[in-house]
Amino acid sequence: MGNDKDLLSIANLTSEQVRQLVEDGVQIKQERSSRVLDGKIIALLFEKPSLRTKSSFEVGIRQLGGQAVYFGRDEVGLGVRESVADVTRVLERMFDGIVARVFDHAKLEEMAKYARIPVVNALSDAEHPCQALADLVTLQENFGELGGKRVVFVGDGNNIAVSLGFACASVGTDYVVASPPGYRIPDGVWKKMSQRAQSSGSRMEWVERPQDAVRDADCVYTDVWTSMGQEAEQAKRLKAFGGYQVNPELMKLAKPNAVFMHDMPAHEGEEISKGMLDHPQSVAFDQAENRLHAQKAVLAWLYSND
Ligand code: NVA
Repeated sequence: MGNDKDLLSIANLTSEQVRQLVEDGVQIKQERSSRVLDGKIIALLFEKPSLRTKSSFEVGIRQLGGQAVYFGRDEVGLGVRESVADVTRVLERMFDGIVARVFDHAKLEEMAKYARIPVVNALSDAEHPCQALADLVTLQENFGELGGKRVVFVGDGNNIAVSLGFACASVGTDYVVASPPGYRIPDGVWKKMSQRAQSSGSRMEWVERPQDAVRDADCVYTDVWTSMGQEAEQAKRLKAFGGYQVNPELMKLAKPNAVFMHDMPAHEGEEISKGMLDHPQSVAFDQAENRLHAQKAVLAWLYSND
């Protein structure tokens, strides 16, 4: 049971693998030629809505010569209509891989345990590794290097913050998180991230005030305050994150050539002020495009024979 190549979490990749995937993503963006998925059919199993992830996987799989079959939430009922184990064992009889977006990260781990085909995390409550790889591709193309850069994440210590942190810690990029005390990256995860940072030379820091965090930043990054699945907490979160908005005034405190990043969907009036995605320093749409290239690098790695 199981398969030795999955992508569930950036933490499961070695730092060397992260560096290689980013390099491959940058290269694939220029070449666009591999047909590594010729004859392969990949199941896309999504429990939550998606624009960028669904499009970039469908397009990327086709560009690599494969085909994708999409299952929305109500079609499968993962772990509800049928157990995760049964769904996985049926899919692996017909498909060559599973790309899954789930509420509970444990479901992905269970799928990976049962599947003899690769399982890719297309976002869970714990991590969004494909986004983080695309983010590093975006930083690499903007700055030409990753080592020694300072990425500041402002907002919730959520799935995006965690994957980005592990990614930065893998490539020698300093990572600073500005979040309210009750919404920090969980201690155990932060500790693991910091251990990885030590070996790559990145510095990890938590700062309460965004204004202090963004000084000297090369990148200011934010994400929604209320993630999918947390809708019931929205009012409480709006209150907790007041003062954590990324806006032109906050950007002015970062380096003059700093970039603004957001994985989207974005909520104007909440984590960003109106127009921030079109701010002259915004690279949010490059990030969105780079999902395609980074994921093609992931697929090429998963289906290469080494
Ligand atoms: N943190 C957000 C990311 C969306 C791409 C969520 O999980 O909803």
